[in-house]
Amino acid sequence: MSRATHADEIAEAVAVLRGGGLVAFPTETVYGLGADASLPAAVRRVFAVKGRPVDHPLIVHLAQASQLDAWASEVPPLARRLAAALWPGPLTLVLRKAAHVDAVVTGGLETLALRVPAHPLALALLREHGGGIAAPSANRFGRVSPTTAAHVREDLGDDVALVLDGGPCAVGIESTIVDLSRGDDGAAILRPGGVSAERLAAIVGRTLPVRDDAQVRTPGQLPSHYAPRARVLVVEPAALAHTLATLPSSRVGVIEAVAGIPAPRWHDGPPLRVELDPERDLAHQLYATLRQLDAAGCDVIVATLPPPAELGLAVADRLRRAAGPRDDA
Ligand code: TXA
Ligand code: MG
Repeated sequence: MSRATHADEIAEAVAVLRGGGLVAFPTETVYGLGADASLPAAVRRVFAVKGRPVDHPLIVHLAQASQLDAWASEVPPLARRLAAALWPGPLTLVLRKAAHVDAVVTGGLETLALRVPAHPLALALLREHGGGIAAPSANRFGRVSPTTAAHVREDLGDDVALVLDGGPCAVGIESTIVDLSRGDDGAAILRPGGVSAERLAAIVGRTLPVRDDAQVRTPGQLPSHYAPRARVLVVEPAALAHTLATLPSSRVGVIEAVAGIPAPRWHDGPPLRVELDPERDLAHQLYATLRQLDAAGCDVIVATLPPPAELGLAVADRLRRAAGPRDDA
């Protein structure tokens, strides 16, 4: 798409947002469903369209780190250090909110999640808009996050006024959420994601604890989330053959983490099998692969756990939640 087309599209998107409408936009992690964060009625529509419970807070996206002080009442030194090192990028910081931030954005909490995404279209939109854009992933609540514009349209249809198409997301898995609302000493990872724990440790100078017991209800921490239609089973690599041998279903999809392969390898089934390198393609292709296996009619997807290093931690987290108990099961 030409530069001029993008400029027109961004002007249109800003007009939609200012008018209280919703715009889906690409980020480097997944596509977001955006509303002007200063318009509570628009933000309420995001919850309605997603089918998301209103006590599950949203992330406010900003164009640059210098806007932190306009949205947070306290910015501890470590928050500034992480923002300087990693923004734009797949890191979300949870800080104490500024007084003007409406409770609908934060689910009634005194804290607010903030991030500067690393996608040229998102940044152009945010710069042109000038304020904050509240955006969860642009999928129905509990389902697989979208990593292409086509995924967004499949999921949300006409419920979103405009979908900006920025191609497939480079990272493919959501941002890492770091809580700094309790100051530097209370820093903790709330959700593993696109910035690895190793990378954070190198910047912070110590390993940050992963806190999974937040009093906050974060959808990413519910037992079932990020789920395709097919039932998901997560297994250690050594248990794959045995698991496949004992499955009664014939429509089985397999996602296998295989180190050192140059590109994803699909094998025709049954079972329908794809091998993805955990250091190259696994995070990047995970959600698209879950969708492909759904589309191929699989009723069970068996996934092997990647080693828990680098992005493998976030992939394992998402797979476990995709495999979690379901209300509709
Ligand atoms: O990569 C991403 O983070 C994507 C893109 C679009 O930026 N967004 C995303 O949004 O994954 P969502 O709404 O699907 O997940 C945001 C997570 C939720 O688990 C939410 O509960 C958590 O952030 N969160 C938001 N505000 C919070 C707060 N004040 N304290 C703790 N967790 C919070
Ligand atoms: Mg989500």
